[in-house]
Amino acid sequence: MSVGRAISHESAEAHVTGKALYTDDLTTRYPGVLHAWPVQVPEARARIEALVIDEALKVEGVVAVLTKDDVPGENDVGAGRRDEPLFPDEVVYWGQAVSWVLAETEEAAKLGAQKVRVEVTPLSAILSMDQAIEAESFHTEPGRIERGDVEEALKSLPYVADGELYIGGQEHFYLETHAAIAHADEAGGVHVESSTQHPSETQEIVARVLGVPKNQVVVQSLRMGGAFGGKEVQANPWAAIAAIGCAKTGRPVRVRLDRLRDFTMTGKRHPFLGRYRVGFDGDGRILAFDAAIYSDGGWSLDLSAPVLHRALFHADNAYFLEHVRVVGRVCKTNTTSHTAFRGFGGPQGMLVIEDAIDRVARTLGLAPHVVRERNFYREGHTTHYEQRVEQADRIARIWTELRESSDFDARFAEIEAFNSIHDDVKRGIAITPVKFGISFTATYYNQAGALVLVYRDGSVQVSHGGTEMGQGLHTKMLQVAAHALGLPLERVRLMPTRTDKVPNTSATAASSGSDLNGAAVKHACDQLRERLGQIAGRMLDAHPDEITFEDGMVFRRDLSGEAIAFADVVDKAYLERVQLSASGFYRTPGIHFDAAAGRGKPFHYFAYGAAVTEIELDALTGMYRFVRVDILHDVGDSLSPLVDLGQVEGGFAQGLGWLTQEELWWAPDGRLATANASTYKLPSVGELPEVFNVRLLARATEPGAIYGSKAVGEPPLMLAISGREAIRHAVASFAAPGQPVELAVPATAEQTYWAIERAKKLLARGGPRDERASTNVGQTRAAE
Ligand code: MTE
Ligand code: HPA
Ligand code: MOS
Repeated sequence: MSVGRAISHESAEAHVTGKALYTDDLTTRYPGVLHAWPVQVPEARARIEALVIDEALKVEGVVAVLTKDDVPGENDVGAGRRDEPLFPDEVVYWGQAVSWVLAETEEAAKLGAQKVRVEVTPLSAILSMDQAIEAESFHTEPGRIERGDVEEALKSLPYVADGELYIGGQEHFYLETHAAIAHADEAGGVHVESSTQHPSETQEIVARVLGVPKNQVVVQSLRMGGAFGGKEVQANPWAAIAAIGCAKTGRPVRVRLDRLRDFTMTGKRHPFLGRYRVGFDGDGRILAFDAAIYSDGGWSLDLSAPVLHRALFHADNAYFLEHVRVVGRVCKTNTTSHTAFRGFGGPQGMLVIEDAIDRVARTLGLAPHVVRERNFYREGHTTHYEQRVEQADRIARIWTELRESSDFDARFAEIEAFNSIHDDVKRGIAITPVKFGISFTATYYNQAGALVLVYRDGSVQVSHGGTEMGQGLHTKMLQVAAHALGLPLERVRLMPTRTDKVPNTSATAASSGSDLNGAAVKHACDQLRERLGQIAGRMLDAHPDEITFEDGMVFRRDLSGEAIAFADVVDKAYLERVQLSASGFYRTPGIHFDAAAGRGKPFHYFAYGAAVTEIELDALTGMYRFVRVDILHDVGDSLSPLVDLGQVEGGFAQGLGWLTQEELWWAPDGRLATANASTYKLPSVGELPEVFNVRLLARATEPGAIYGSKAVGEPPLMLAISGREAIRHAVASFAAPGQPVELAVPATAEQTYWAIERAKKLLARGGPRDERASTNVGQTRAAE
């Protein structure tokens, strides 16, 4: 049994010994390689008046300076809308590259870049969502999902609360920064090594800028040192620069952003602004929810439209909302172009409803977990876009099991008692659920292919359309192939992802890498097994249906007769001229969505989970530590339990970083002031919970997915909302009953301190609603 076995990541040993190669490591394989360095303009917005390259060309080692004139095809790398000139006439964000220098060494390229003179006229820039809304600077028309009659419902309900929430962005901070190498192949085509989640799209963009058909371009994505959505479309420009440089010079060209370049030139998780009204009854049942959300798309559209849509899809999280209206719009600003990041807008959408839930609880003096529980989806419910919530009972089941295993109720009571007698140290605990829709919301993306080759000695190579970014996709695909062919894992080799093995692939994203590619790999293996079964049947004098393949041997299911080696069956098949390779294909059945109507079944299924987080807060400084975390998460029947546990732990930690520590600061001139690890605080092992119990839900077979498993990549990130709510619980001990407790995102120690001060101030004034403190980080700061 290969599927479901707890094995290490297929490259674990190579990762820890340093043997694992990443794109940039391949540089040494290309003699004569040129190094590229960008010429960045330190203006948020400016017109380029002149670009003078003569002095740069005199620098020793500089071979060429790339400008617009060097683009053989189209000067645009926009993945959806063509709004991303690679060599722009106008600078639209601080640090944008306007030209690239190619040199014999990276050092020479840097020196050359300093010598390129760019004359600009600064123009007025839009640097925040507030400014964008004011100036009506948007990338999109509003998107909306609506059910029932929100206005009427809000009028008739006994309670209505409103709130506003600013949600900060997040830097991907993959350990491996963006990299690409292009070289000419002997047939005049171009071969590109790219650290990309979406080789087919990188191929498309390279073909576009070169003005050649796609069959002239091969893209390989060896493995990535983390991607997290940041390489879903944003790997393309660097591959394009390498390819253009190669076309101009005839030499291999390497592009690698260092950390500062990566920080200043690539997009992040979208900051969001949410404004909501929530209507509820005296029991805390939410009957109406009205939300307007804005995202900061940055300078180009990128993936902002589907990201915003996923936020709208997840504005319900795990709660049944009868009357709902969620409207969202993407702001256009002069910052880096914000992009996919684990959760893809879902986390931001969920935060808004979770914030509203806390409002409801504080207003009524109920415990937040009681309000959460009362609003859960139940069997038979549909979401606001009218997809039936199948397995809705899992929400309550996970909740109940986790409440018991974490001893939540007793700890909640103890913490309330502790807080009532302590002034300077407070504790907080919270339990929050996650429901996350699995599938690309653009239905056509939900397809995948695979190519499985069996060699005459019985060894196997597997190619599939997915990319490996540390998430363990290749490990799972090995397990699927070995399982489907009845082979030990060692007989199967996973090949690097290349566009000449599997064409027209989707990005490895939306957590669906193993669902889609796993089904495609299995489809290919099933065909091979069918063919080999015929041969083995003849060899064993049995009907093919009675033949079984296991652990490299082939025998009759009833164990009568002899067992023959897989390799012998393969060899016989070869001699009989039976095809020993197969391509597999899969498309997710039954999904559809009508965006105009806001109706459909966009998701194949939902992934569920819940987390309990406990914190301890120093009320004098706002500093806190994570005392204990308990997680129960639904991955169906895990394909690879160790990999899945790693995904849950890693996703949670990454979510906690976003919600509590990682803070992006843009200076007034549009420069990112936190553009390195020295100023951008990542969560480190020291800030992880002291006790961290993670369990995968048992008895959870998912009937519609590969071997009963469920997608795991993104959903656990949103379990970290329990961390934010635990901090809020501690802060709430300074508030009067009925008083809202506002908390910034991220709830850094500093912001938590201010939240305590606000709570105290309101308490002293004796009224909850005489001043509405805003949780907009920027505004709060300005006011303090
Ligand atoms: N895990 C690691 N170690 N590195 C990553 O870059 N990306 C996440 C998640 N887990 C990521 C990761 C994101 S954003 C997604 S969409 C999924 O992995 C993609 O892979 P999958 O579909 O194979 O789960
Ligand atoms: N999730 C992640 N990436 C995507 C999606 C999605 O729904 N759609 C397009 N790219
Ligand atoms: Mo993940 S944000 O869908 O790459």
